[in-house]
Amino acid sequence: MDAVKSQYEAYPYPARDPAEEDKRLVTGSPSSIAEIDHYLFAGRRDWSQPFRVLVAGGGTGDGLIMIAQQLADVGCPAEITYLDLSEASRAIAEARAKRRGLSNIRFETASLLDAKDYGPFDYIDCCGVLHHLPDPDAGFAALKLALAPGGGIGIMVYGTVGRSGVYDAQAMLRALRKEDEPAKSQVETAKHLLKALPDSNQFRRNPFLSDHTDNDAGLFDLLLHSQDRAYLVPEIYEALGKAGLSLVSFVAPMNYDTDFLVSDAKLKARLTRLSRPEREAFAELLTGNLRKHVFYCVPEDPPERVAQFGEDMIPVLHDLDLDTIVKSIAGGKPIKGRREGLKIEVPMPPLAAEVLPLCDGKRSFEEIRQMMEPLPGRDTFYDQMRHAYRGLNGLNMMLLRQGAE
Ligand SMILES: C[S@@+](CC[C@H](N)C(=O)[O-])C[C@H]1O[C@@H](n2cnc3c(N)ncnc32)[C@H](O)[C@@H]1O
Repeated sequence: MDAVKSQYEAYPYPARDPAEEDKRLVTGSPSSIAEIDHYLFAGRRDWSQPFRVLVAGGGTGDGLIMIAQQLADVGCPAEITYLDLSEASRAIAEARAKRRGLSNIRFETASLLDAKDYGPFDYIDCCGVLHHLPDPDAGFAALKLALAPGGGIGIMVYGTVGRSGVYDAQAMLRALRKEDEPAKSQVETAKHLLKALPDSNQFRRNPFLSDHTDNDAGLFDLLLHSQDRAYLVPEIYEALGKAGLSLVSFVAPMNYDTDFLVSDAKLKARLTRLSRPEREAFAELLTGNLRKHVFYCVPEDPPERVAQFGEDMIPVLHDLDLDTIVKSIAGGKPIKGRREGLKIEVPMPPLAAEVLPLCDGKRSFEEIRQMMEPLPGRDTFYDQMRHAYRGLNGLNMMLLRQGAE
């Protein structure tokens, strides 16, 4: 624990300048409130009610600032607790909150292993932290203990397959390290090693590992971490099982969905024989590009928390460039792109190009249908919307919220 604490004192991560808060809000997964509502509260969360949040291992504040700002924007009387061991990281997170005038956060310097003492919480964010604990299972268990009834957790841990090359480079740097070598000197050695890597090296052959390229904190976190493990999908299920937690969903779901990822009929037929966790494990090995696993989990089994498609549900567009998508799908073309090297081609039904611009996060599917001219038939509209929703939700571009019932 001491080595991890001193690393984050020397290199608060990720490196952030509070002045940047004037220009942009860093967003991501987990912990956007639209995702939390969709995956943990069936789209029914009433943000006018109090909401207790723990950001466990809050670091320099990315997840913290995002959730605190989003809750402030919807007028939620939220109490957000930031926990981290690193005082240097906390100072940056506090400065960012101050710059934004956020007053809904209490800052604590402590271990997440003691999270229960600060709770209970309706939602816990733990992004990029558990894989750095000496005993990650103790971390999963501690978070579960800090949950309020009905609460849930959003987690990010490293993915083994997508990080191929990282652990080879870490092992070489451990071999080269002098006793008690200061962090800055280790960073210098790492820079030498990176220049010396031949093209055949596994780290060089993994083009998606770029965290180290723009700053020393990123380089230290990637290659010199004293405590760092990664997870395969089955290991996530195992860790959750030990803690008495159940997986609600990985995000983005498409990354783990062999229906999207495999088109070969013979393979598809074989895959239907596998359980959901087995198919997700298959997907990870197939794509090879998941450097991180983001997922939501809860203490009950089966977890019936995800919002379900329906006429009175409100489609919430999320993390998408509407103009570009609408342009590309007009005329029935698929959504095309690349995600970390993976070619994406998600077909969209004809009505999607008309419907997406009408999604304002307030209107339900049925209210949108009623606005359209000519009025599409109910069956046609919902067949197409179900299809569009599945594709867009798979890409984490559409979430659901309950409208008036
Ligand atoms: C990679 S950073 C992630 C920060 C932040 N969650 C984010 O996503 O930007 C990991 C953080 O976990 C903190 N950490 C490590 N072990 C911890 C523990 N046992 N309790 C609380 N924080 C811890 C470190 O100090 C560091 O700030």
